[in-house]
Amino acid sequence: MHNPKRALKNNELAFTSSNLHPQITVLDTGGQYTHLIARRVRELGVYADVQPSDTPREALRSRKGIIISGGPGSVYEPGCPDIDPEILSAGIPVLGICYGHQLLAHHLGGKVQRGQRGEYGPAQLTVSYPDALWKGVERSQIWMSHFDTVAAVPDGFRITATTDISGVAAMSDPARKLFGIQFHPEVVHTHAGTQILENFLFDICGAERDWDVSQRVPLVEEQIRSAAGDQNIFFFVSGGVDSTVAYSLCLQALGPERVLGIYVDTGLMRQGETEFVTGIFAELGAKNFLAERAEGEFLRALEGIVDPEQKRLAIGEQFVKVQERILATEHFLDGRWILGQGTIYPDTIESGGTAKADLIKTHHNRVAGIQALIDAGRIIEPLTSFYKDEVREIGCEIGIPAKFLSRHPFPGPGLAIRCLCSEKRAALTETSDGFLLPLRSVGVQGDARSYRAVLALPHRPTIDDIQKTAPALTNNRRDINRVVALCGAKKPLISLAVFEASITKPRVDLLREADAIVRRFCEASGFEERVWQFPVVLLPVGSGAARESIVLRPIHSVDGMTADVILMEPELLERLTRELLAIEGIAAVFYDLTHKPPGTIEWE
Ligand code: XMP
Repeated sequence: MHNPKRALKNNELAFTSSNLHPQITVLDTGGQYTHLIARRVRELGVYADVQPSDTPREALRSRKGIIISGGPGSVYEPGCPDIDPEILSAGIPVLGICYGHQLLAHHLGGKVQRGQRGEYGPAQLTVSYPDALWKGVERSQIWMSHFDTVAAVPDGFRITATTDISGVAAMSDPARKLFGIQFHPEVVHTHAGTQILENFLFDICGAERDWDVSQRVPLVEEQIRSAAGDQNIFFFVSGGVDSTVAYSLCLQALGPERVLGIYVDTGLMRQGETEFVTGIFAELGAKNFLAERAEGEFLRALEGIVDPEQKRLAIGEQFVKVQERILATEHFLDGRWILGQGTIYPDTIESGGTAKADLIKTHHNRVAGIQALIDAGRIIEPLTSFYKDEVREIGCEIGIPAKFLSRHPFPGPGLAIRCLCSEKRAALTETSDGFLLPLRSVGVQGDARSYRAVLALPHRPTIDDIQKTAPALTNNRRDINRVVALCGAKKPLISLAVFEASITKPRVDLLREADAIVRRFCEASGFEERVWQFPVVLLPVGSGAARESIVLRPIHSVDGMTADVILMEPELLERLTRELLAIEGIAAVFYDLTHKPPGTIEWE
């Protein structure tokens, strides 16, 4: 579910242009796809903006069409997002989508009721009355996500399409130019979605093509200039794609004298990271760039902490301390500065409790000084209307090197959450399914994160393990949420144990070394191109002097919300395993076989 208040504030910042007038407005009823609708309309060459659902008719008078988005509400629940009913009699074409479709029915005298069952995912649409919305569409796959349904259409409307479950998958009153559809034309899984939106825009609304994607950068830059006025902008940059693109846009809009980037090296970064980031910012033309080295402070803050959530908290609190110090010493609160942030659209929606971008941001936002800037509206977030792939495109348009834009995501708390700890020594237990490693690794089932043990299969990973064995094990055993396979070890599994361990510099250094080896290996072998992200994890599992093990976790994903395991070719894996086992102190190498869900991408 998303927070409309916040998204709207940001949207106003990113897309209000003095010289470009929206032909179409998407009214935001709180749905996760609202901005996607506006994006699709713009992709069709028509400038569209997003406004609060209850925007009065007066403010929408000059629009050629209005789209009411989907949302999580139910029309009969008190306090749910509503529209100004006057817009329905203004003569402007209206397309209601999902909840928007139900709002149409509700306001015009139809009936909405709780469905007998929900309808989620794919459904087959059958067009029963071919009005103008269905030009070129007959029977086609659509994507549904709803529980409530329209049970009776308002007077003057007729049912225009159905699915097996929804009697009123679509309805219209062409004379009044009012159209309602229960499904989502904006998602790629609705095959005729683009055609339907085109029909609405051009045939029904008579919109003209006035928007070209190449205008978005100048538009955002104009916004930055007007929001900044004569103030300067400072950014805490992470070295990630989003904050770098946001920073670069500000740099282009205001010039290098007025934009400052600060990068905090926590000591929990990958090998060569600080040098890489410093180099990139120099390439981008940043004149004002500070790298604050704070490894000692972060390691001290983590001393003796074993619990994964406590680790995250300690890192967040340490970020706060470092930022407070920088705010004070650099005089950022003296009225001449505003804060820039690389927030992108998906960061503004809550997503299944697993989107960590928000978590990190929460940490940053907790800094009292930063909170004061936000409260005073002294914040610029130029990317809040965009999705990740658009941010990469924008980055490319403004000349950020491809080697930077194609980087894998890397979590804010860094290697600390890939360096597992244990408060005590414990033996592995042999079970009929494999060896139980008494560690706590996080998984995600439903919307909840849970910490459970790990099951190790005593053989090399196979595709069958990934497709069948591991899913069956995590489905059937309540004591685990992750399954790994053994790629190689210096001693038999039965002789290994979990050792007492917390975050120490030697352990982080060891993980950094292993991670660098894996990265170099993947780049050289071309495996890198097959993966979306490839965490390398350190486990305190071993025997004798070799008390650590490595887990390889290469995954494929689109947005990090779900992920599937990618199997490395056996010959490559064997070579990589040999290289890793050659590191002093490494006892074994494992391969994570767990998709997300049930396992998260990271191990903590
Ligand atoms: P999970 O582990 O939840 O991760 O499947 C999904 C994506 O989010 C990244 N991630 C983080 N990013 N701060 C971040 O900036 C964090 O605390 C954090 N935790 C996970 C993870 O790397 C993956 O891309």
